[in-house]
Amino acid sequence: MITKTMITKTVSLSFVEINDFSQLCESEQLLVNAAIDAAKNAYAPYSNFNVGAAVLLENGVVVTGNNQENAAFPSGLCAERVTLFTAGALHGNTAPRMMAIVAVKDGELTFQPVSPCGACRQVFVEIEKRYSQSFQLLLTGKEKIVKIERAGDLLPLTFNSTEI
Ligand code: THU
Repeated sequence: MITKTMITKTVSLSFVEINDFSQLCESEQLLVNAAIDAAKNAYAPYSNFNVGAAVLLENGVVVTGNNQENAAFPSGLCAERVTLFTAGALHGNTAPRMMAIVAVKDGELTFQPVSPCGACRQVFVEIEKRYSQSFQLLLTGKEKIVKIERAGDLLPLTFNSTEI
C-alpha cells in the first residue's frame, strides 16, 4: 500500500535592517569598507556586476575576495565563495565571525543589498557546521544594510545527504 503524508514545515528568517552606515560599529564599518575595496578587483566583464566580500575571522584577520567570471559561465565563482574558500585555504583552523558583502554596478554601490545565491548559502551552512559556530552577514546597499545573525539561516532544508 502506498502511503502519502502531507507535512508542512514553516521556515522563517529574522534579520535586522540598518538604514545608515554610521549605525554600524567600527569593526563592521571596516569590514564593509574592505568589501567595497575588494569589489574594485572583481573580474566581471560579462555581468559588469562587481561583488566584493570581506570576512572577519575569529583571530582578527580579515580576508577579502570578489567575483571571478569566465567565458564559460559556470566556471566563474561568486565573491562570497572566493572569499570563504580563500579564508579556508589560508586560515583553515580559524572560524569566520562576520562577512560583509557589497555589489557595485556602474561604479556605484547598489541601492539594495545583494542577496547571496543558493550555492553560496550551501557553503555558509557547511562552514557553520565545520567550525560549530555561526557567523554574521552584513548585506550592504546604499539604502539599507541587512544584518543576519546566522549565515546558514539563509538556506533552510539544506542538502545534508541524510534528511530533509
Ligand atoms: N555574484 C556574486 O559574486 N555574489 C552574489 O551574491 C550574487 C552574484 C556574482 C556572480 C556573477 O559574477 C555576477 O555576480 C552576476 O551574477
